[in-house]
Amino acid sequence: MFNKEEYLQRINWFVNDRFGMFIHWGLYSIPARGEWVRSFEEISKEEYMKYFDEFDPIDYNPKKWARVAKEAGMKYVVLTAKHHDGFCLFDSKYTDFKSTNTKAGRDLVGEFVEAVRNEGLKVGLYFSLIDWYHEDYPHYGDNFHPMRNNPNYKNDNRNFENYLEYMHNQVREICTNYGKIDILWFDFSYGDMRGEKWKAKELISMVRKLQPDVVIDNRLEVSGEGYGSLAECNPTPYHGDFVSPEQIIPPNGIRDIKGEPMAWEACVTMNNNWGYNSNDKLFKPAPMLIKKLVECVSKGGNLLLNVGPDARGNIPNESLEILKIIGKWMKLNSKSIYECGMAELPKPDFGRITRNNNKIYYHMFENTIGPIPLQGLVKEDIKSIRLLSTGAEVPISKSWVHSDYPDIVFADLGLNPILPDEIDTVLEVELKK
Ligand code: GLC
Repeated sequence: MFNKEEYLQRINWFVNDRFGMFIHWGLYSIPARGEWVRSFEEISKEEYMKYFDEFDPIDYNPKKWARVAKEAGMKYVVLTAKHHDGFCLFDSKYTDFKSTNTKAGRDLVGEFVEAVRNEGLKVGLYFSLIDWYHEDYPHYGDNFHPMRNNPNYKNDNRNFENYLEYMHNQVREICTNYGKIDILWFDFSYGDMRGEKWKAKELISMVRKLQPDVVIDNRLEVSGEGYGSLAECNPTPYHGDFVSPEQIIPPNGIRDIKGEPMAWEACVTMNNNWGYNSNDKLFKPAPMLIKKLVECVSKGGNLLLNVGPDARGNIPNESLEILKIIGKWMKLNSKSIYECGMAELPKPDFGRITRNNNKIYYHMFENTIGPIPLQGLVKEDIKSIRLLSTGAEVPISKSWVHSDYPDIVFADLGLNPILPDEIDTVLEVELKK
């Protein structure tokens, strides 16, 4: 069943692109307390409907979002077509709970897909397996449903089969009505709600027929926790194409049980919420996020960095400012990110290493005292060393100070103790072969 060659071909662009934007956006941007607000605060359906009645994203302009992503050096964008609250940003035939029936009055996914494609970026759609709106989804006693603690919402008359039909129908719509979709980001499995409980085999066989090349995450089997059957080297027909660690960069990258490196993508928020949260001002500084992107790539993974647009459809200013700084760095240094991966060289004290075949990128987060040790390299193998951001030659050091370390090659960045780029100065070392 599992065809490794096909698989590697399918994920090829994904593991080369390395950097994407996640967008969490929906009705929950109005209460502005994160996308789980209905569950966390156990809000009834009736009460939540006020946000549906109110939803009017007058500034929604996905062209702007796509441009922001592109300018930041991101290569793909994943939008929540439907999150756990069940509200659809697309014109589904199977529900009234959709953007077309709000003041927005239109299919927001359609516009998004077009805008992203027009920027030359890959298109991803997030689709929640969990649905807190559908009557046939378990309510009382479920782990997360807003009515989980309310005995008036017992499940005796709920028909989960019905829900599955609904869910499969919507996935069919997403895979049929918007042209080529590059990523399908299902979210998420828990308890016995996983795998065949979702009729995942049937679902994926449909998806693969409609979108033969689509890259799919691993959450039909797991969640942010767990690797899935591909990691166990025993892939199910609905195995994920990549592992999806959430709010963490795996300490040692991710390998399958045979020790082979796997494709993975860390999804990370800029502050501490996916959906818009007006009080959460705890944003990660841009320099930190640049280093985290490098960390992901140096461990063979991708970074999917999230923004949560507000109720009018604007990406928060804090996020825009951060993305600008990231973009400025990427403009000069993206060669050390795209198509790069693990270097299989010892991690240096001053930073990290990424690699694209015979090009090795030394990322300097920190100064050294004296010349820069390029551990793991042999002088005879080196064709050239350049400062990536300018192309300037960086000579091999001949200083006496490292005479005690004859087996290590040192690069000479000059006398200035301040690095040319204080966030991350990248040396491009090209090997001869
Ligand atoms: C989750 C959450 C969620 C978010 C997602 C992103 O598991 O339920 O709200 O969309 O992870 O990875």
